Amino acid sequence: MKPGAYVLISGTSSGIGAACARLLDQMGFRVFAGVRKTADGEALRQQTSQRLEPVLLDVTDEQSIRNTATHIAQVVGNTGLAGLVNNAGIAVASPIEFIPLDAWRRQLEVNVTGQLAVTQALLPLLRQARGRIVNIGSLGGFLASPFAGAYTASKFAMEGFTDTLRMELRPWGIEVALIVPGVIATPIWSTSLAAADKLLNQMPSKAVELYGTAMNTMRKKAYPTGGTSAEAVAKAIAHALTAQRPRTRYPVGLDAQLGILLTLLPDRWRDHIICSRQVGKALDMPPK
Ligand SMILES: NC(=O)c1ccc[n+]([C@@H]2O[C@H](COP(=O)([O-])OP(=O)(O)OC[C@H]3O[C@@H](n4cnc5c(N)ncnc54)[C@H](OP(=O)(O)O)[C@@H]3O)[C@@H](O)[C@H]2O)c1
Repeated sequence: MKPGAYVLISGTSSGIGAACARLLDQMGFRVFAGVRKTADGEALRQQTSQRLEPVLLDVTDEQSIRNTATHIAQVVGNTGLAGLVNNAGIAVASPIEFIPLDAWRRQLEVNVTGQLAVTQALLPLLRQARGRIVNIGSLGGFLASPFAGAYTASKFAMEGFTDTLRMELRPWGIEVALIVPGVIATPIWSTSLAAADKLLNQMPSKAVELYGTAMNTMRKKAYPTGGTSAEAVAKAIAHALTAQRPRTRYPVGLDAQLGILLTLLPDRWRDHIICSRQVGKALDMPPK
């Protein structure tokens, strides 16, 4: 992919998406930066060149996706789209027994179905440019943890989605890569914690009775306060878009690399290690 080529990134208001938009812009690409609020696009543009163009894109809104695809088609003309970075995402935290179904659906809608809808809408333009697709997976895409069931379901799905897409698009030379970040220092953790508190308030008191201790322990032990920088993830995305032979998977951060080793353990050993690290003995306690 040459500088000056067009790239669309979803979810660029903060975190990994914003870091990726800034880096690709610095590298000379023409970035369409997906945001849901005009003000977020304007704020991002203050940090980039005038080449970057914010586009209003909600990955759960079909009309918004159509408008974005139509606009990009008009701007790029015969050049096509050289890259699509499916980055937008949310993290819903809740015990599976009590998660409201609309919260579960929303998690999958944003993190999986929305990525599919955007990919389908942009594939004709990607094919035109023999472009590349970069999906954002997660350490949670191969390692489950308590109270992250909806999120891990969405990221496990991204693993299968990405591998299938890579095989199906081989005839057109469209490379598809999966970025696999460990814990990254972005606002997703505080947003997810606030949303989890709101969800918990809507649940029956039985939810607190059964899972309250474990959830409180997890909040203290497992919610990260640091993490690898979003810029490190942006570098991996840039490699996936520009390397002559991109990798199919890019673990980012030591935790993502070491996490792969945990998948080699028998399931119950792995459960024990994850539970004792994240929720202490709380999940072993008999319900009151
Ligand atoms: N941070 C981590 O530790 C970590 C680890 C592994 C994977 N990831 C993945 O990395 C990606 C980016 O997350 P982040 O950590 O950078 O979090 P973030 O700072 O919270 O960014 C999430 C982005 O997604 C956007 N978004 C949310 N719902 C959307 C929708 N319906 N349509 C379009 N955009 C939407 C947000 O926009 P608004 O501001 O408008 O809500 C925001 O720009 C996600 O896919 C996440 O799962 C993160």
